[in-house]
Amino acid sequence: MATVIRPTTRLLNPSQRIVQIGFSEIARVRDAIESQRQQGRRVLELHGGEPFFETPDAIKAAAKKSLDENKTRYPPAVGIGPLRDALARKITSKNNIAAARANVMVTNGGIHALYCSFQAMLDPGDEVLVLSPYWTPIRDLVALTGARLVEVSTAKAREQGFARALAAHATAATKLIYFNTPQNPTGFVVPRQQIEAVAGFAIERNLAVVADEAYEDLVFEGEHLSIASLPGMAERTLTCFTFSKSYSMTGWRVGYLAGPEPWMAHMSKLALYTSSGVSQPAQWAALRALDEDPQELVERRAEYRCRRDLLVNGLVQAGFQVESPAGAFYLFPRIPQPHHDSAKFADHLLERAQVSVVPGAAFGSEGEGHVRMTFSARPEVIEAAVAAMKAL
Ligand SMILES: Cc1ncc(COP(=O)(O)O)c(C=O)c1O
Repeated sequence: MATVIRPTTRLLNPSQRIVQIGFSEIARVRDAIESQRQQGRRVLELHGGEPFFETPDAIKAAAKKSLDENKTRYPPAVGIGPLRDALARKITSKNNIAAARANVMVTNGGIHALYCSFQAMLDPGDEVLVLSPYWTPIRDLVALTGARLVEVSTAKAREQGFARALAAHATAATKLIYFNTPQNPTGFVVPRQQIEAVAGFAIERNLAVVADEAYEDLVFEGEHLSIASLPGMAERTLTCFTFSKSYSMTGWRVGYLAGPEPWMAHMSKLALYTSSGVSQPAQWAALRALDEDPQELVERRAEYRCRRDLLVNGLVQAGFQVESPAGAFYLFPRIPQPHHDSAKFADHLLERAQVSVVPGAAFGSEGEGHVRMTFSARPEVIEAAVAAMKAL
């Protein structure tokens, strides 16, 4: 077995910046599942964030064709021209954000779009308003800039109105709002009136917005509205998208973002120095994905909806208090009495029911008391998980 390199002299410290960043709670969940498997036990996996279907064949064929055509050289760092043009058309027509090629950059998945957005906009000491619970990596992506994440309770925002809730946490140091709809982990889709209120607040306080629309195609009730489409917002918003969830391309690593000049000129430096661009075959595949018959998405959405209802109904019967989400593919039920610690409850579900979930505390302080479960799983897995939870 190879030996691990370890210093024999005085240990050099890694940067303070990286030492303060933790590993995601999901890594801990994966380790716990692995340990169950090693003991020969099956695990009913509801912890993940992957679409239930495989990448469509036509998309895979486009990648193969690009290889046969030797499209294997360095791509432009900000993305191949035909994909940026197609994305500009998509963003203009579907998201109602007037975008040209210069406003679009292709990234290594949605997370890279977010990383570049925060790096481009934030200085040490800046504050970022984030509705909580929030997608786990956001805390670390913000921390890597030296800025500070300020949590704003989504539950309070839903009660009091989003602008009022954000205003209660804004200070002279507030620079930016991270705005995610449909939301991970709750599946909550922010209604139009509240998005308008957030936009009004951003304009009044002269704040930038990083919009995360990874689940734009997964809205079951209501509509998806891009905040940058509202008057006065395109010039202050970076909108981050991904092919991961809509086309089941999580492993291809293709995302993109849209934003105003001169921000995009700075973003292109980040694209160059963090990745020198996205793999060419993946970009040609993404271009083909944009040509998919929209009916395919409609059918997949209907399938997600059935699985959502199956899990929601099952959880209610198992005694959980759960909201049926209007978007994304997660449920965020309250953990039932007498449990109150989400990490301990997640361990309990894994050990006693063989069901894997993510503790709500992984999604910020507003997530404690809940767990996240995906309904992007096979119906047999959902049914078996419900039966196991009922039997607890
Ligand atoms: C809210 C949210 N934003 C962004 C992403 C990033 O997506 P990608 O897999 O393309 O990096 C995810 C992935 O789970 C997500 O849940």
